[in-house]
Amino acid sequence: METRFRDIGVEAIRADLLVVPVQEKKLEQAPLRALDRRLRGKLSERIQKSKFTGAEGSALLYPASGLLPSSHLLLLGMGQAKEIESDVWRKAGARARREAAGVGAVDIALFFAPAGSPEQAAAAIVEGMLLASYQFNKYRSNSKPSDAVRQLTFFRPGLSRSAALEKSIATVLRTMPGVYLARDLINEPPSVTTARFLGEQARRHCRGRGVTVEVWGKQKIAAMKLNGLLAVNRGSQEEPRFIKIHYRPSGKPHKRIALIGKGITFDSGGLSLKPSKSMETMKLDMSGGAAVIGAMSRLPHLGLDIEVTGYIPTTDNLPGANAQKPGDVIRYLNGKTIEVLNTDAEGRLILADGLALAAQQKPDYMINLATLTGACMVALGTEVGGLFSNNQPLADQLLRCAQDTGEKLWQLPLVKEYRELIKSSVADMKNIGGSHGGAITAALILQEFVGDIPWAHLDIAGPAFAESDTPLCNKGGTGFGVRTVLKFLSTL
Ligand code: BES
Ligand code: MN
Ligand code: ZN
Repeated sequence: METRFRDIGVEAIRADLLVVPVQEKKLEQAPLRALDRRLRGKLSERIQKSKFTGAEGSALLYPASGLLPSSHLLLLGMGQAKEIESDVWRKAGARARREAAGVGAVDIALFFAPAGSPEQAAAAIVEGMLLASYQFNKYRSNSKPSDAVRQLTFFRPGLSRSAALEKSIATVLRTMPGVYLARDLINEPPSVTTARFLGEQARRHCRGRGVTVEVWGKQKIAAMKLNGLLAVNRGSQEEPRFIKIHYRPSGKPHKRIALIGKGITFDSGGLSLKPSKSMETMKLDMSGGAAVIGAMSRLPHLGLDIEVTGYIPTTDNLPGANAQKPGDVIRYLNGKTIEVLNTDAEGRLILADGLALAAQQKPDYMINLATLTGACMVALGTEVGGLFSNNQPLADQLLRCAQDTGEKLWQLPLVKEYRELIKSSVADMKNIGGSHGGAITAALILQEFVGDIPWAHLDIAGPAFAESDTPLCNKGGTGFGVRTVLKFLSTL
């Protein structure tokens, strides 16, 4: 998608779809009046009939019937706020993209006069368009993908291009392939996205200046004492992998970060088998790993001067003759032991390996992403991820970044009193807590493996996968976390 900026008015611009954002109850603004005159009063008639007031999320599509150089006109309701939030721009971009697809428009022109930061608004609009453009049609025999948007023109009388505007749009364009990659990896069927496949994809997509990828097989995993991963993999016919992606900037890095992603390519629950309904979407259980691969794949393109290492333990979780059993005990490389009482609480078992290994390098920050608990989904629903941290400034910074990207995060507490709930009678801890607060007890187990390193855990069980089409993402993997993590890294 090409973007450009033009100094021109609504009556003169030529596009397939002419988009005009409208603030609520401000239908008297100059561009609308000019359009109405050209459309011989029919636009205001239509506005009245359809009761379009500019309420946030509303839209009105109107054919220009040869009275304008543009073919279709789209009014987008932006709501009442004086300064429109990024997320409202993002959703407006997404809506414009969907309406464009509906009328076969490939050239879009958008009247651009934001009250707040033009850089933020333009970036959010482009981002929304690209988020809504994503489709996964590989396995449909009769799919007719909608035309890609070829050109997006920001315009208004007096508008000129600026380096700052172009830079903020360029950042979006450099980030978005990471989101698409994560979505693709999640959407592929679980028999395609195996641990081996994830390793190959990491190799294929994480390349460029300063990036190296190591993919460890079972022997190396055993030699490295990644015993949680081995234990979860025991029920499987597929070999596990441990993926390590390293990015080193060309100059001296001023921070070192570890990203750890849960890579369960399919979660059947293991011997603690899930009911079939709960298994339907369990190919999503590598979404944390996919987000790490997606984010790492963009680092050479974003040119950040920090060192980042991605760690992705990956396997499926299946019951098999050799599967781990409730009652088994795993000994970790930091010396700690976990009694496995429920083989369906497997994410924490493999993340413990990744966290312990990452902690040995003493990075400045560790961030893990995982579709860890149904309990987090019960607490926060499907739009919001849970954030846990042992370091409040880190948590605050991540919350600010999430606010900017529109990937909603909400902080949940690491309640130390609940450590009682994960006490084991035979080992240092057990892998499940009581019947309440399951997202917290899971996070407390992870915390045992990070030492005193500033750490944040994102439980993305809810937002990783859209169960139905949403404004910014069709049904399927969302790539949640990629944008927020990259945003965070860019603030360091
Ligand atoms: N992968 C699941 C969590 C999950 C559930 C993610 C629903 C997305 C949607 C995880 O491995 C799991 O099974 N957790 C159990 C933990 C329990 C056994 C303590 C859960 O949440 O039920
Ligand atoms: Mn599970
Ligand atoms: Zn799982």
